[in-house]
Amino acid sequence: MLLTRSLFDECPAPYAAPEPIAPGAALLRGFALDQAEALLQAARQVIAAAPLRHLKTPGGRVMSVGMSNCGALGWVSDSTGYRYSSTDPLSGQPWPSMPACFAELAMQAAAEAGYEGFAPDACLINRYEPGARLSLHQDRDESDLGAPIVSVSLGLPAVFLFGGLQRSDRPARWRLAHADVAVWGGVSRLAFHGVAPLADGEHPRLGRQRINLTFRRAG
Ligand code: SIN
Ligand code: FE2
Repeated sequence: MLLTRSLFDECPAPYAAPEPIAPGAALLRGFALDQAEALLQAARQVIAAAPLRHLKTPGGRVMSVGMSNCGALGWVSDSTGYRYSSTDPLSGQPWPSMPACFAELAMQAAAEAGYEGFAPDACLINRYEPGARLSLHQDRDESDLGAPIVSVSLGLPAVFLFGGLQRSDRPARWRLAHADVAVWGGVSRLAFHGVAPLADGEHPRLGRQRINLTFRRAG
């Protein structure tokens, strides 16, 4: 079973067309395939300068997802709340700048989904190990809610939960595999979303982990 799955992921289908998942939201399967290696290399450099860390929620829980940021602004959480910060609280230094290949891919994916001119100033890097999850939430700490969110998946596949504008709306479940890109904006910009606990597996390139890059216009 595991063997079948990893062989399958090793030969993903090339990108074909956006797949609508909700009004204003689309899945671009395989869109990042050609750039995946460059993205991973750049992510490794960002993480070397601003290490992944498990943030505390305002409620005092430690998040299971390891996080870092690059770009002018980075998303952080601590006992005082969620916010964007221009510096890494671990070092007091500005976040690493956003690699050109990150910004370019995010801009192209946004345009492909119908959002021309997306210029992200923040990229949250999320690392999931088996069992890590992200509970249902809205991305609403950004000052520009007119810009979409662009989310790039690398490594082990995850189940992405994409709901409606109410927390109580039952989310649909979408498989996000290596090189898949999800984009949501417009009337879905504030949709509740999350990630189900990551199933264990072995990705041919990344091993037992999933890396997600989430691009935002935060400032
Ligand atoms: C997020 O909601 O910030 C991340 C989503 C994901 O990991 O796919
Ligand atoms: Fe989110």
